[in-house]
Amino acid sequence: MCWGEKCSAGTRLAAEMRIHVLPSAVANRIAAGEVVERPASIVKELVENSLDAGATRIRVAIEQAGRRLIEIEDDGCGMFRDDALLSLKRHATSKISDAEDLSAIASHGFRGEALPSIVSVCRFDMQTALADADVGTAIVCDGGDDVSVAPAAPRRGTRIRVRDLFFNTPARQRFLRTERTEEAVIVESLRSLALANPATGFQLTCDGRKRLDVPAGQSREARIAGILGRQFMDNQQPHTEAFEGVHVAGFFALPTHHHRDAGRMYFFINGRVVHDRQLISALKAGYRDVLFHDRFPQAVLWVEMDPAEVDVNVHPAKREVRFRQPQAVRGAVVNAVRAAISRMGQRVSDATTAQALRAMGSGSPASSMRPPMPTSQGKDDAAWRQGLQHLFTGLSASQRDGETQGGVAEPGQAFDSAQGGEASQALHLGQPLAQIHRCYIVAQSEQGIVLVDQHAAAERITYERLKRQLADGRLARQMLLTPAEWHPDASTSAWLHEHGEALQVYGFEIEARGEEAFAITAVPAMLGGESPLEMAGELTASLRATGAGAEGRGRVLERWLGNRACKGSLKAGRLLRHEEQESLLREMERTPNIAQCNHGRPTYVRLSLGELDGLFGRRG
Ligand SMILES: Nc1ncnc2c1ncn2[C@@H]1O[C@H](COP(=O)(O)OP(=O)(O)OP(=O)(O)O)[C@@H](O)[C@H]1O
Ligand SMILES: [Mg+2]
Repeated sequence: MCWGEKCSAGTRLAAEMRIHVLPSAVANRIAAGEVVERPASIVKELVENSLDAGATRIRVAIEQAGRRLIEIEDDGCGMFRDDALLSLKRHATSKISDAEDLSAIASHGFRGEALPSIVSVCRFDMQTALADADVGTAIVCDGGDDVSVAPAAPRRGTRIRVRDLFFNTPARQRFLRTERTEEAVIVESLRSLALANPATGFQLTCDGRKRLDVPAGQSREARIAGILGRQFMDNQQPHTEAFEGVHVAGFFALPTHHHRDAGRMYFFINGRVVHDRQLISALKAGYRDVLFHDRFPQAVLWVEMDPAEVDVNVHPAKREVRFRQPQAVRGAVVNAVRAAISRMGQRVSDATTAQALRAMGSGSPASSMRPPMPTSQGKDDAAWRQGLQHLFTGLSASQRDGETQGGVAEPGQAFDSAQGGEASQALHLGQPLAQIHRCYIVAQSEQGIVLVDQHAAAERITYERLKRQLADGRLARQMLLTPAEWHPDASTSAWLHEHGEALQVYGFEIEARGEEAFAITAVPAMLGGESPLEMAGELTASLRATGAGAEGRGRVLERWLGNRACKGSLKAGRLLRHEEQESLLREMERTPNIAQCNHGRPTYVRLSLGELDGLFGRRG
């Protein structure tokens, strides 16, 4: 070592920076920074341990949102005295033995990190006993130091108490949110765990108030009803799907029950609660034809697959996972949602009827979960007339028959679930009586009356037709008598020179006339009345955003066709002759997914005679 004049600054620094291994108490506290984000993380880790221990009942009590106390009691297998002591050490686990085991993890835990991390940031005590033992074990430990162990009563299972969380790491305390927020996160976390494990009973009390209580041995249906309420159960469609080794059992809310955030989507991979962007995206993709783009669906999904196909060791809190075959998982989820949606058809309308009846019965304006209806009394211009014409005259009988099959698979995915099945086949909307406010059609059916939103219905019809044509190869074209001159910006022009033919399947013909000059010579026939420049511009932007290849087609459908179908459809504000009303109703009966427009709004409401009688007090 050189401390003299000749010693360089670098060497002096290296001398000050001699390396040593940290004491385990410090190492544990560092690990706790990742594992114990907030009180809810402790609840999650301890409940997962109880689940791994085979508990049938788990009781959780918290005080002051977990800062004062988190107590978890289970009736699981318990621990031997020595194992209980060992469980507080880092990397001590009963769940894996060698590196090989890491490649197919079937338990919630595997790192042997949760307990030592938790112990290092609280005053901790644990009582545990095996089922047939005469004596149990009690362990007390403050902040990871001075572990004391003693015999205890042989109460089967394990009870862990975490007190004064972060008492020795005040900086962490300051990062906690308000008690209300932290408590809400705990409640939400336990709800997810309880949903994921319907066979296990859960109880949660917060400062003595019962926040959750579900018995052991429930079916998935009963557990969902217990956690999410009857309203969810009454407005969902269950569906199971198996696709390339991935099994999905889902309960999908009607599209009209959408939500502003992603928190109502529950995903469980082999029983583990996960928040996974790929799964959210797959679920949204499945719903995309029937939901506003900025809204989220509600759903509960159990995804089961070979544990070797999913890597759970990618996130400190094990919230995220990595799939070996992401496309198979996406395909299974998308197929399940779409099949469920196609079976929902009629029920969307039934839910709307109930809502309408409530509103009429109480005399109050319809309180609505859905966005406002279009109010524009649009003018009756040439584009709409043309859209209308296509709506009523456009198709041959064989094309129409084809339409009831509906459904476009995302490229690269098998999609053979029956689409538009039972609901549209059984649909009878009756005879039109009148159009009111140039917006709604009133029809009389055998059972009662039907109110149709002409714009919403036409939007769905147009969209399903466009989808069908695209699935069959390309959209039908209409040549323009006078080609439209198009001068896009330089980067769009460069893209068009290279990929311009990608627009052909959407019904466009485009010829290059110069470096930044093009002529549009044909447009999609069903959208013939609209501005060729605007349409081509939007489509090009969509294609550039999603990639012009076949794999982007599903997303272009959503972005471009969905909006185009809306703009190109028969608008509210258009006067309809009786035959036009009639054709609209008949066309609706043939169209898949007709119960809601592309944005998830209902297209029609039915009121039965019985419901009308009820409204007027004719029933006893
Ligand atoms: N409630 C419990 N009942 C029975 N055994 C338990 C219980 N909680 C913990 N254990 C035992 O203690 C060990 C350590 O638990 P800890 O949570 O620290 O690690 P892990 O669950 O193995 O892995 P991870 O850190 O990923 O959660 C477990 O492997 C298990 O054997
Ligand atoms: Mg654990």
